[in-house]
Amino acid sequence: CRVRHYKFNVVMKNTTRLCSNKSIVTVNGKFPGPTIYAREDDTVLIKVVNHVKYNVSIHWHGIRQLRTGWADGPAYITQCPIQPGQSYVYNFTITGQRGTLLWHAHILWLRATLHGALVILPKLGVPYPFPKPNHERVIVLGEWWKSDTEAVINEALKSGLAPNVSDAHTINGHPGPVPNCSSTDGFILDVEPGKTYLLRLINAALNEELFFKIAGHKMTVVEVDATYVKPFKTNTIVIAPGQTTNAILTTNRALGKYMVAASPFMDTPVVAVDNLTATATLHYSGTLSSSLTTFTSPPPQNATPVANNFTDSLRSLNSKKYPAKVPLKVDHSLFFTVGLGINPCPTCKAANGSRVVAAVNNVTFVMPTIALLQAHFFNIKGVFTTDFPGNPPFAFNYTGSPPANLATTTGTKLYRLPYNATVQVVLQDTGIIAPENHPVHLHGFNFFVVGRGLGNFNPKTDPKKFNLVDPVERNTIGVPSGGWVAIRFLADNPGVWFMHCHLEVHTTWGLKMAFLVDNGKGPNQSLLPPPKDLPKC
Ligand code: C2O
Repeated sequence: CRVRHYKFNVVMKNTTRLCSNKSIVTVNGKFPGPTIYAREDDTVLIKVVNHVKYNVSIHWHGIRQLRTGWADGPAYITQCPIQPGQSYVYNFTITGQRGTLLWHAHILWLRATLHGALVILPKLGVPYPFPKPNHERVIVLGEWWKSDTEAVINEALKSGLAPNVSDAHTINGHPGPVPNCSSTDGFILDVEPGKTYLLRLINAALNEELFFKIAGHKMTVVEVDATYVKPFKTNTIVIAPGQTTNAILTTNRALGKYMVAASPFMDTPVVAVDNLTATATLHYSGTLSSSLTTFTSPPPQNATPVANNFTDSLRSLNSKKYPAKVPLKVDHSLFFTVGLGINPCPTCKAANGSRVVAAVNNVTFVMPTIALLQAHFFNIKGVFTTDFPGNPPFAFNYTGSPPANLATTTGTKLYRLPYNATVQVVLQDTGIIAPENHPVHLHGFNFFVVGRGLGNFNPKTDPKKFNLVDPVERNTIGVPSGGWVAIRFLADNPGVWFMHCHLEVHTTWGLKMAFLVDNGKGPNQSLLPPPKDLPKC
């Protein structure tokens, strides 16, 4: 293993998309940002230098950060932000992980343009558990706003209303041909015929789950969220913000150009999302320039069966070499409702004196002004409490008619876990306002998705159907609209770990909480001390 050094200069860059120009926050002037390459067991040092007017922090999404929570990145959770003119070196070792992950800004809405791929290759000499592909390609999916994204969310918070939806989706930074603007502005995936390509697919969009399709080609899924899965073939990949998927594409069709499409998936009766499909072109070398592109039509926005079919196909590889270490007994059995609510807001005139909020177990999380991990490590009182409820304050028909009172409580509440506790969390979507898909992400751990269903979770019958043999292991899971998922993990990583909906609008509204995991008593079971250059608040 070796040490890899990267330098991330956070700088503004004038960028034109959809025929309009704006200045965006980037790393090293690139959108999407640079790819980080490392191998399992490597130590990675990334010096982030902030040259812009915003506070910045960067999260290495899906990296376990064993005992190194200081390098995790969510602003005010594990660190204070890097202020303008300042820098911070993220220093972490990649332990027991290989595959595709992503990095992204974890403050305000800067993630819109501040994101990129994190590629972890297996240890030298260790093969993939599938035939070695001839080539590899990174594909980052995103969203584009013509206006300034910080202005979009600030305006929404002031008014109490939902923020504007994006103006386009993007594939490797490009929306593809857009009517009345451009017929050519799309990413081109150049391939040779008769080869295999490992596509490393990342959803870096702020607010939308996406379908991904390539005309005329099936893909073989081999990995999600940097864990191997039992390979299966599919026409359509479903990928939520924060999720990653590795799939093998075989270029065995006639020479030609084939449309690649990324389109929104949103299963909710009331929220209209923009239905602009981003397109790119799979281009076989040797194709005549005059040849026409083979089209594909994306699934409809609410194609839940397509999404379910994909999700149900995901199983851990669970081989001798890569066993699924599912916790079989549960020390902490938690039930979390995730959903929206409405709180009073006297200044929110546009929304009739109220504002949309979001909550876990009816708690709308309030961001502290000192990082929680610092408050924990240095024993600073009054920053957080450890009374996050393990169950909803009262039971109701979660997916039926909403309770009379839609208001939530507020607080900076953490749920405390002893070192090495085994945890089960049932995440139950609620129909308050409306049911919605929520891709929930847990920092610091991978979890196993042992169960999933529609309607209200039934604690008597549903656990009997749990898959404790080869459930998929990941770091971000879509809670189905009007349904639930059950996850299990081992709390073997001391520190403060954020859990939140990866739809940025829901995070902003408060759909977030954190776990506090105590140190263990043995050697190498404690959170390491903070680095000297840890930013100050
Ligand atoms: Cu990818 Cu807390 O986020």
